[in-house]
Amino acid sequence: MNIYVTREIPKGGLEMLREKFGKFEMNTEDRMLTQNELLERVRGRDGVLCLLTDKIDAAVFDAAGPECKIFSNYAVGFNNIDVAEASRRGIMVTNTPGVLTEATADLAIALLFACARRIVEGDAFTRAGKFKGWGPLLMIGQDITGKTLGIVGAGRIGSNVALKMAKGFGMKILYADTFKNTELEKETGAEKVDLETLLRQSDFVSIHVNLTPETTHLISEKEFSIMKPSCVFINTARGPVVDEKALVKALQEKKIFAAGLDVFENEPALAPGLTELPNVVIPPHVASATFWTRTRMAEMAAKNLIDALEGRMPEFCVNKDQLKR
Ligand code: DGY
Repeated sequence: MNIYVTREIPKGGLEMLREKFGKFEMNTEDRMLTQNELLERVRGRDGVLCLLTDKIDAAVFDAAGPECKIFSNYAVGFNNIDVAEASRRGIMVTNTPGVLTEATADLAIALLFACARRIVEGDAFTRAGKFKGWGPLLMIGQDITGKTLGIVGAGRIGSNVALKMAKGFGMKILYADTFKNTELEKETGAEKVDLETLLRQSDFVSIHVNLTPETTHLISEKEFSIMKPSCVFINTARGPVVDEKALVKALQEKKIFAAGLDVFENEPALAPGLTELPNVVIPPHVASATFWTRTRMAEMAAKNLIDALEGRMPEFCVNKDQLKR
């Protein structure tokens, strides 16, 4: 089998591929491929293991050619792939759900704490030699315990954040979703509300929706304008769900208290003004970056690829029902 891996992933997955297919080609440089390189490197492959940073569209499918059976995405999100086009061509698209739920939820919570208690700002302050002794007004932040947490998108990751914060910190949970999450309601007393109510009433808002045309810029100027001025806003889902320019403006105008973002609208570029703000915490899209999680993701992505190329339907095929062949 002629496969290609668009960037090095953790060993476990690579070993599985080596065991099955022997030698295979991979981008070994520590950078994403340019679109032209991607087009060249996928040419004539039976299957490709790709990343969320690879834009997989009709041109890439054309380049891969008619023998290509699968694009195995090393991510739970698959908004980087034109799934409808893949389905039309009978190409399987797979992802790696489940194994990154805990790690991603944990990072959302870490950002929530970092922003509410001004940890990064305080750390920079101390390192800069500005700490001249305890002060009654120094670095005052927001309370967390017992406050209201608004979860936008109560799927696997959103529910996990809600559960941990309700059980661990007695937070009241509001959630906005198209589906009623009865289990979450039972376990945490969460209440399903419309987005506007959630934004008006929450002390913390955490985004956990998939990126789709409907969720693009779901949070923009109007939404920031109705949040509490004490609100801490967290996004660990996908950058384009939030209008990043509107977010910068809201922070500059103190419409909200702080923001923790692991994802950005035009990664790796950042909206002008974002890095100048002291009340943002901005790790570089690392929510799933724990040793266990990334290893499991690699193994799942490899297994999806192997299953497809050995004629089995991979467990995590996202277009199973739409495939033509
Ligand atoms: C995903 O898998 O979609 C995550 O964003 C990776 O960190």
